[in-house]
Amino acid sequence: MASGPVEPLGELRLIVHRSPLLARGRHTSEREEGEAIPVNTSAASAAPRSLLHLDSSHAKDSVSRRLTALFAETWREVNGAAGYRYRNLAADPVPLVSAAYCELGRRVERHGLVPPSKVAALVEDAEEEREWALTLPLIEEVRDADTVLVGVPMYNFSVPASLKAWIDRVTFPGAFIAPDTGEKVLDGTRLVVVTARGGAYGPGTPREAFDFQAPYLRAYFGNLGVTDIRFVHAEMTVADVIPELARFRDLAAASLEEARAAVTALAAVR
Ligand SMILES: Cc1cc2nc3c(=O)[nH]c(=O)nc-3n(C[C@H](O)[C@H](O)[C@H](O)COP(=O)(O)O)c2cc1C
Repeated sequence: MASGPVEPLGELRLIVHRSPLLARGRHTSEREEGEAIPVNTSAASAAPRSLLHLDSSHAKDSVSRRLTALFAETWREVNGAAGYRYRNLAADPVPLVSAAYCELGRRVERHGLVPPSKVAALVEDAEEEREWALTLPLIEEVRDADTVLVGVPMYNFSVPASLKAWIDRVTFPGAFIAPDTGEKVLDGTRLVVVTARGGAYGPGTPREAFDFQAPYLRAYFGNLGVTDIRFVHAEMTVADVIPELARFRDLAAASLEEARAAVTALAAVR
């Protein structure tokens, strides 16, 4: 499924560059420009790892999907396939939440938060039961994952509805909170977000303030308790198709190459 060759695994070190125009290959504030990312490819001998891989592009030839496939292929070479779980949220959409979902959520909040395993005891009718059956497996997949990988096309400066439907459903009251301690259970989860954007939204670009995609995802997952968040951006992806943007084709190609190197290195980390 991955496009192009995967970099040979071994002792790699990837230097993160920051272009003045593009946010390409950019990781979030955890990584500064020029900082080396240590790559450990001997993780296969450590404890079994799990990866939840989500895609959300509706395009046939999707840049974000190609990049996440490259990540997944590299990750499986390092960790094996047993802990790998995949969902294509565009091809197999998560149903929008319903009135019964909201009602069940309110009842849980009134009752006091309970772990997902105890929500079924608070279900009152068949519609709520159906909603919960759609929701619980999605929550469990996130809770079980060491790493969550999300492929996100930019749609109208934000995330596609396919991903938003998943976010709305999976964020059930108490789903990611330990009821006894109030601690956020995703504290140790690593999140890798791979975006593809038609334009450029990096620092100093004219459209920097239009980026409601990365800040939104950082705030959403940060609020759930995820602290280890990495972003990889492939930008100017429409330069190849829109004649007026032809002068940006080199930038687009460079952005894609940097994104490929970044996902390969991040996938090999653990
Ligand atoms: C419905 C839709 C809305 C889009 N909105 C934007 C946008 O607001 N800003 C932008 O830079 N590109 C926009 N694009 C272009 C996509 O971000 C670009 O094609 C990207 O490569 C999509 O990711 P994908 O290749 O993984 O599908 C849009 C594309 C579609 C189909």
